[in-house]
Amino acid sequence: MRVAIIGAKGQLGSDLVARLGAQAIPLAHAAIDIRDPSSVWTVLDGERPDTVVNCAAYNFVDKAESEREEAMLTNRRGPGYLADYCRERDLKLLHVSTDYVFDGRTGRKPWTEEDEPLPLSTYAASKYAGEQLVLTHCPRHFVIRTCGLYGRNASHGKGNFVETMLRLGRDRSELKVVSDQYCTPTSTAHLASAIIDLTKTDAYGLYHATNSGQCSWFEFAAEIFRIANLNTKLIPITTEEYGARARRPLYSVLNCSKLTNVLGWSMPPWRDALSQYLTERDQSTASRSSR
Ligand SMILES: NC(=O)c1ccc[n+]([C@@H]2O[C@H](COP(=O)([O-])OP(=O)(O)OC[C@H]3O[C@@H](n4cnc5c(N)ncnc54)[C@H](OP(=O)(O)O)[C@@H]3O)[C@@H](O)[C@H]2O)c1
Repeated sequence: MRVAIIGAKGQLGSDLVARLGAQAIPLAHAAIDIRDPSSVWTVLDGERPDTVVNCAAYNFVDKAESEREEAMLTNRRGPGYLADYCRERDLKLLHVSTDYVFDGRTGRKPWTEEDEPLPLSTYAASKYAGEQLVLTHCPRHFVIRTCGLYGRNASHGKGNFVETMLRLGRDRSELKVVSDQYCTPTSTAHLASAIIDLTKTDAYGLYHATNSGQCSWFEFAAEIFRIANLNTKLIPITTEEYGARARRPLYSVLNCSKLTNVLGWSMPPWRDALSQYLTERDQSTASRSSR
């Protein structure tokens, strides 16, 4: 298998590259720009993969409200060009989308792949448009919706929730965290394993893929602080009090049973995933400082 990983230096991309080893063709932003069709065709024709995994995205949820064109170029057009390329070359394409395609207002039941999306923000609309292009333009497609990613290669500009909490927890004596948004934070290490197994199949389609269980951001922060032994006082606040620019779904837990049925295994509970991430993070910090 030769798997082109687009967005290879991001959180998910870097975990995929690490797990695939010699089968990976890592394509960082400096090597390919998915917003440019000639870059897509030239680079992929040069590499000759049999599978393309798109982890590249414009992920600035709040900034997208004032940068609609930027978000649409990367999250809609980019996947569209990849879908055209993979259709023409008869390749498998796995594209990653988001739980934010749902509006999160209807009940407290995990969303299935059959439920109707209703994006609330520009970021969500751009991701929904991108997944629709992949689903309709590329026959050998896997579209994966996931949620609240955290991984070892969090970029300095964007970070991830876990790294942000650890930083703020060390700097502050108290912290306000939203307690009325529910989802399933997901480790990119586990998601990468699921993606690799799924791309080995011919079970094309749309899938939900997260760690299991659910929590609010407040509960997630509390568990991060408990495992990391931080005594910062956590204060629950509402989404309205937090006042972010982009609207977010209040409930975006995804039902992953379709993926579980195809893979024969499911991703571990979010608490175990977090604990594993923090343990491995400590071990790599310790080994770096002992060198
Ligand atoms: N992060 C989350 O909480 C979350 C939640 C749900 C779904 N997702 C989806 O999961 C996927 C992976 O997310 P992630 O957190 O791993 O993302 P990430 O860490 O932000 O990585 C994205 C990578 O894509 C690259 N990139 C951006 N624009 C590009 C372009 N035009 N052409 C080629 N590469 C480009 C970025 O490079 P530069 O940084 O150099 O621009 C970056 O290395 C994305 O589709 C995202 O929308 C993420």
